Amino acid sequence: MTHSLGSAITDEAAIGSWKEQLKLDPYRSYLYSYPHKTAYRELDPVRPLAELWHGEAAETFFLYMHIPFCGARCGFCNLFTLPDKRSDVHKQYVDALERQAVQWAPHVGRKPFARFAIGGGTPTLLEAPLLDRLFRIAEDVMGLDPAQASISVEASPETVTPERLYILQKRRVDRVSMGIQSFVEAEASAIYRPQKPLEVERALDLLKQYDFPVLNLDLIYGLPGQSVDSWLYSLQCALSFEPEEIFIYPLYTREHTIVKPEEVRSSGEDTRMACYAAARNHLLARGYKQYSMRRFARENAASGKSLLPYGCQEEGMVGLGCGARSYTRSVHYATRYGVSRQATESIIADFVAAERHDLAGYGFVLNEEEQKRRFILKAILHWEGLELSAYTDRFGSGALDDFPELNLLLESGMAERPPGVLRLTEEGLAYSDAIGDWFISAEVRKRMEGFVLR
Ligand SMILES: C[S@@+](CC[C@H](N)C(=O)[O-])C[C@H]1O[C@@H](n2cnc3c(N)ncnc32)[C@H](O)[C@@H]1O
Ligand code: SF4
Repeated sequence: MTHSLGSAITDEAAIGSWKEQLKLDPYRSYLYSYPHKTAYRELDPVRPLAELWHGEAAETFFLYMHIPFCGARCGFCNLFTLPDKRSDVHKQYVDALERQAVQWAPHVGRKPFARFAIGGGTPTLLEAPLLDRLFRIAEDVMGLDPAQASISVEASPETVTPERLYILQKRRVDRVSMGIQSFVEAEASAIYRPQKPLEVERALDLLKQYDFPVLNLDLIYGLPGQSVDSWLYSLQCALSFEPEEIFIYPLYTREHTIVKPEEVRSSGEDTRMACYAAARNHLLARGYKQYSMRRFARENAASGKSLLPYGCQEEGMVGLGCGARSYTRSVHYATRYGVSRQATESIIADFVAAERHDLAGYGFVLNEEEQKRRFILKAILHWEGLELSAYTDRFGSGALDDFPELNLLLESGMAERPPGVLRLTEEGLAYSDAIGDWFISAEVRKRMEGFVLR
């Protein structure tokens, strides 16, 4: 169903059938980033970091650290993470991350970091002193200024302790993001996430005492055994803790995870679109603003710091640790990606044993077309949409001239065009995962389909 460049469809019947096809499967792929990491391959030749980052034109930078450990692997999760609670394993990993930071700092240190995030995995699985060390590496080695950057850390309920929260507060963390997924015990256990509602409430009560400027909670809809009513129950439980931000994720089932598509749909219909619509209405009525298909936040959520502008289109991403991705304008790179225990274990072991971290050996080189697609996708999957003049300023051409197929979004009512902007409508936002997927280039799709997940 992808239309090649230059092939705008103009007749109404064709537009109708294009839209129908798009709506047949709203959940094709979550384009967390473009190109997707399954499109990455060995880079030939490998690129020295000095060359990659020299003269990078990004306006601001995002420093990310990946902690690829969890207490157990949830049955739905295909993130790069290993179930391993051993503190000596964590320490060896942070030692390696520090070696990497020291080697990267001459090339990417002391940048205007507008954001710093520690994600995973479950970063709060690390004991408090090790968690503190990550901030020391960020500040002392990479030159992060915690007064200037918005700082976010991911957590899971059972790892929330006063010792860890004390460190996060001391290090001026603005946002703590906690995965909950469901407040119904049977639903959590059906996705192999052994989590008691009482444990979740304990963690939330404790988090509230520390009063971080932004508390984000993650929930998943479309779980096995979940109904629209039980989904709304979980949403209401989450809202009773008054989070500043909430992410609602449609369930995806993927290779190498325990929860299988058959299991999810065994009860019959796919309730995801109904869950989304019900949650959206509920959140809007409760004063949350919708920023994307997944993200809702209170408008007044702010940290009180005077921050660098962040989340802009042109942001360099400096990703430290195994499983983190780094982005310059023209090259995205990372360590290899795997999900199975064997694969994650061996990728982490290679990272820990590596002496050199100053070469990028695995990733994706973005030619101009891919840079344009990325620019457009990043903008239109967000409620603000694509500012057409920003595209022209960057590329010297018009987005709709370069990609006439974008007119399909307008003609089908999936997007609208207030002055100077192309943005998704309410209907378009609901189909973000189908629209994002549709706009993937043939080359990236070929690579994604050819990726062998281990
Ligand atoms: C990096 S995880 C982090 C949180 C933390 N490790 C935890 O689970 O508490 C970010 C979020 O992505 C969502 N997620 C991960 N895999 C998913 C899947 N297969 N389908 C839907 N949402 C998913 C979950 O809501 C999860 O909390
Ligand atoms: S959802 Fe979170 S806790 Fe569960 S395996 Fe994935 S990263 Fe780990």
